[in-house]
Amino acid sequence: MFVFSNLAISIDGKIATASREHFPLGTPADREQMQVLRKESDAILMGATTLRAFQKPLLAEGASKQPLNVILSSKLDGISPSWAFFTSNKIKRLIFVGASCPKAKLSKFKKNSEIVVLKKPTAKKTLGVQMAEALEERGVQRLLVEGGGAVMWDFASQDLIDEYHVTVTPRVLGGTDAPTLVDGLGLKPDQVVNLKLEQCRVLKNELYLIYRKTGKRGRKLADL
Ligand SMILES: NC(=O)c1ccc[n+]([C@@H]2O[C@H](COP(=O)([O-])OP(=O)(O)OC[C@H]3O[C@@H](n4cnc5c(N)ncnc54)[C@H](OP(=O)(O)O)[C@@H]3O)[C@@H](O)[C@H]2O)c1
Repeated sequence: MFVFSNLAISIDGKIATASREHFPLGTPADREQMQVLRKESDAILMGATTLRAFQKPLLAEGASKQPLNVILSSKLDGISPSWAFFTSNKIKRLIFVGASCPKAKLSKFKKNSEIVVLKKPTAKKTLGVQMAEALEERGVQRLLVEGGGAVMWDFASQDLIDEYHVTVTPRVLGGTDAPTLVDGLGLKPDQVVNLKLEQCRVLKNELYLIYRKTGKRGRKLADL
């Protein structure tokens, strides 16, 4: 399966303010680019915090077939089945939940969504690997990860992202607690993921970057 991500960042690497409310960082041109990428995907994944902020389906406008909408949440806390995300008849939904999610909670979402309970992660079967395998089993060939930073960590830390689409927007958000492109525990110097710049496009005040996976990790950049 091909995994690609698309997020907009401020010049200080943040994807949202510390309050984590929804607001688009980029311009309409960035949102147009987002639509192009959505149309190239079979499934779009977002984390529960992004869903809590947005509450709506992730649509590929004008596409003949909508990508499967996928969310990841440990226990579905603070998420309501009455949100447009769950009631929209435009999309199909898949919810990944953690092993400790109470069964009673799941029953509220079963009517409108497929639910996959993830196993406790191991070194080989991390959550990212489990999600990729489950989606592949359902015919997903191109997975678009739209964030936020916590979900990005589940994929990026395992070097599961083939292509990073990053829009650098002319903003400074600041905030130690504001989410960044990839959050999580962070990698040790010998494990850092090294990428190759594939494309750099300038449009007015925004930079559109595409970085590709090299499969190389660690401190050395020279032999890329
Ligand atoms: N600028 C952009 O392009 C962009 C794109 C996307 C999002 N955003 C913004 O980013 C913010 C959200 O980012 P975020 O990093 O805080 O959150 P996030 O990645 O959207 O979601 C985090 C949540 O996902 C679930 N999750 C993630 N990893 C998990 C794991 N390994 N096991 C179980 N559950 C896991 C947990 O859900 P539970 O809490 O339910 O357990 C966790 O709290 C929002 O403000 C959103 O608007 C910006």
